Amino acid sequence: MTRAYDALMPLPKAELHLHIEGTLEPELAFELAARNGVTLPYATTDELREAYRFEDLQSFLDLYYALMAVLRTERDFEDLADAYLARAAAQGVRHAEIFFDPQAHLARGVAMDTVVEGLWRALARGRADHGVSTRLIMCFLRDESAESALATLELAEPHLDRITGIGLDSAEVGHPPAKFREVYEAAAALGLRRVAHAGEEGPPEYITEALDVLGVERVDHGLRCMEDPALVARLVRERIPLTLCPLSNVRLRAVDTLAGHPLPAMLDAGLLCTVNSDDPAYFGGYADDNFDAVRRELGLTDERLRELARNSFLASFLEDDEEWRARCLAEVEAYEFR
Ligand code: ADE
Ligand code: ZN
Repeated sequence: MTRAYDALMPLPKAELHLHIEGTLEPELAFELAARNGVTLPYATTDELREAYRFEDLQSFLDLYYALMAVLRTERDFEDLADAYLARAAAQGVRHAEIFFDPQAHLARGVAMDTVVEGLWRALARGRADHGVSTRLIMCFLRDESAESALATLELAEPHLDRITGIGLDSAEVGHPPAKFREVYEAAAALGLRRVAHAGEEGPPEYITEALDVLGVERVDHGLRCMEDPALVARLVRERIPLTLCPLSNVRLRAVDTLAGHPLPAMLDAGLLCTVNSDDPAYFGGYADDNFDAVRRELGLTDERLRELARNSFLASFLEDDEEWRARCLAEVEAYEFR
């Protein structure tokens, strides 16, 4: 039986590649700055938005880390996550697996407790308040040392009831996955799920290394796999999900234009692709904005969009709630496009 949806109801989807710090909208940044007595080097939200012109990943990361200065208390992290969940729900997100960067906060003197407890206050209410189930994925900064990653994992141990998995992000080139073998082994022993950014700016070899050395179950971005047909064949064969972020790829110049994005070729190759928003406050759109952009610019059919939504739930870490996954998948199949 098909269910009639309101014309404005977006396609139900899971968001699997979302940095919570990347959801900090300029308005909230100024509000938190005022609350915490932090001075921002911008006079207005418009002036801050003007700075959102990036040449590459590093030029974005410089601003992304600088703006985190406004995040200081549990309430700040709670407000940040709550604002994200409200926006995500309005865009059809029913499940979100959310990255956070503890090392970026620890370096500023903000404790692991503050970050995890603050985020958790909002995330634990996600399903009740917004109809969005949530999981937390703790990322290590790959431009920091392996020792720092291990120390961060140790600090997180009291919070593992709230953390589903680990990831690897920040400046990719020059920081191959193998550097983090030990911390990924330790995390696996603790029962944590494993993902890593690979093949965003870095070469296809980093994707292979993330699979072989770190044992990742999902690859974040993975865009550059298309340069290596044998790797594509492997990703297809092993059903390894890729969490693509089209608007991010345009803003950080991983692709020249959205119209030239390899997503259609990736789907045609049989890759298990998902579409996500990465750092939506910086890149011009949340989850459904990304779906809408690829529909318009890449001419994806309704059935291709449904496939992307289906993939998002299939690729999600919902093994502990198969009933919810099945409900979400049924909504995807019943969705009527207009
Ligand atoms: N941290 C936040 N967004 C990122 C991205 N797109 N790549 C690597 N690290 C990130
Ligand atoms: Zn990312």
